[in-house]
Amino acid sequence: MTIMETGRASDTRAIHSEILSTMKQMVFESANPHVRKFRDGFRDIEAHWRDVGCRVLPAARPLNAIKADTRSIAGMLLAQIITNRESLFWEQTYSKADRVVGDAFLSGYAFSEITGQRGPFISDRLRSGVGVWEPNVEYPLHWHDAEEIYWILSGSAGFQIGREQPKSFKESGEIVFVPSSVPHSFGTRDEVLVMFYLWQGGDLRQVSEFERKIS
Ligand SMILES: [Fe+2]
Repeated sequence: MTIMETGRASDTRAIHSEILSTMKQMVFESANPHVRKFRDGFRDIEAHWRDVGCRVLPAARPLNAIKADTRSIAGMLLAQIITNRESLFWEQTYSKADRVVGDAFLSGYAFSEITGQRGPFISDRLRSGVGVWEPNVEYPLHWHDAEEIYWILSGSAGFQIGREQPKSFKESGEIVFVPSSVPHSFGTRDEVLVMFYLWQGGDLRQVSEFERKIS
């Protein structure tokens, strides 16, 4: 490893640590009973870091145009993601060959993991990070063993939690809890959606089950 690479890795670790610290603060300060269940996953995680590199996907670019209101801790997290967007590793779970999400979804979403089996902070217990969805994309009904929190940092979406439940509109600052194995979906409207997500329980890299294949 060259001196330059060592320097970049150390800068990247500092960025990841700052983001992790803000995420942890959000979870520990939250009065939401579902969020509080995720506290244990943050314990002793800082030491287990690896360099995952960085990769920017097209769907992460709308972050350029978002303004964070840093008067709240959620706004602070958003600001850190925006500022450091090109130092993070952005990825996608699905591909066209999976035939579970549409083309608009595939070209309009990306997420960057901060804790999880892959890292940068290695954990078999807590998968967490930030996702970005462009306007007018639909995440179809799907489910997984992990219980999940969606914490909206910017934008809004209509969420369906439970197969027979109506859609409910949520916006910036609101928290959505998805119990283990409960089918859920959401759709963005006319603005970019940025969410802090948390997963725990079951296989942290499980690929979601979907109701149907897209033809
Ligand atoms: Fe989910």
